[in-house]
Amino acid sequence: MANTKNALKDVVWVGADDRRLELFENIYPLPKGVSYNSYLILDGKTALMDTADASVADLFFENIDAALNGRPLNYVVVQHMEPDHSATLMDLIRRYPDVTVVCNAKTEGMIHQFFHEDLVFKCQIVKEGDTLPLGQHILQFTMAPMVHWPEVMMTYDQTAKILFSADAFGSFGTLDGALFADEVDFKGDYLMEARRYYANIVGKYGAPVQAVLKKAAGLDIQMICPLHGFVWRKDLSFLLDKYQHWSTYQPEEKAVVVAYASMYGHTAKAAETIAETLVKKGCPVCVYDLSKTDRSVVLSEVFRVSHLVLAATTHDGELFEPMEYLLREMKSHGVQGRKVALIENGSWASVAAKKMQELLETMKDMQVVSPVISIKSALAPSQETELTELANALVQEN
Ligand code: FEO
Repeated sequence: MANTKNALKDVVWVGADDRRLELFENIYPLPKGVSYNSYLILDGKTALMDTADASVADLFFENIDAALNGRPLNYVVVQHMEPDHSATLMDLIRRYPDVTVVCNAKTEGMIHQFFHEDLVFKCQIVKEGDTLPLGQHILQFTMAPMVHWPEVMMTYDQTAKILFSADAFGSFGTLDGALFADEVDFKGDYLMEARRYYANIVGKYGAPVQAVLKKAAGLDIQMICPLHGFVWRKDLSFLLDKYQHWSTYQPEEKAVVVAYASMYGHTAKAAETIAETLVKKGCPVCVYDLSKTDRSVVLSEVFRVSHLVLAATTHDGELFEPMEYLLREMKSHGVQGRKVALIENGSWASVAAKKMQELLETMKDMQVVSPVISIKSALAPSQETELTELANALVQEN
């Protein structure tokens, strides 16, 4: 049975939820699943906004057939060639051979990179500002390179004032029977997944996201239809404000994330001790064991907060790998402008603080808060004063 939902009377969601995929892009865990959104505009002409992942192909095509209800499919607009949105494109063309593929020149090249097929199809190349009238709806195309691949474009429906935003403004998490963000407790139940999606998928591309936000500011947008997660028709300023923070790497909150990489619990104990001290001083704190919590979660928390405490042991003469991995992820995703306290541990020849510092120096505007604390095997009772001093320094910076 088909499972379609109306964003508007003549704009129909024909996507699907996926709760079976373990890892998005085969790396990011999906505890709450993910949705692949595709939208069908039923006007004088019909236009499908992107396709969907191969894993949901059966339901996706059933949804399109049901929504078309016997009408032909005139256009498929390809905004992004990542396979979670384009894997079913050739199947779609085989099912609707008269369809015209609407895309930009870069996308056309990628279609042939992904599909080495002799299938002949109609293609209409568009560029910045071009329009496609469907009847009442007029689609206007705007390029959004590197949000999140170079060929990405977005589409503004001038009539319905909808921004079809490709990956931008999306989220991990399935829709669970809803379609709109205002139908669920988004801030309570989904914001963390939206932030995790942003930080890990788009986080590296702050400047291109800023360029898109500037373009969006010139449009009258009443609805945002992303390729993952909920459709936004209310409180758009909340979402835009989050994107403003994330894309400029500004923290959302004055708060502390304590992340530790500990082998036998001694480094963890130091992390717990400073967390306790910070909480007593009124700081909001979250503590993460990097050997346990997925790095995609911790990275998204780094995007959220202003201050970090990084505690790590030395392993084989190097920084213990879970911390090294986090720091490399922070660098590759553009994290900058955080205040960072460091705690290292080592039973002999400790190098963890030095290595953490070196990695922080490869990022922009990361400020190490003194004193750096060095533990030999286990926190000595006399070092609790040092931890209090470090907590005080963090609170003063807060
Ligand atoms: Fe949801 Fe960049 O693909």
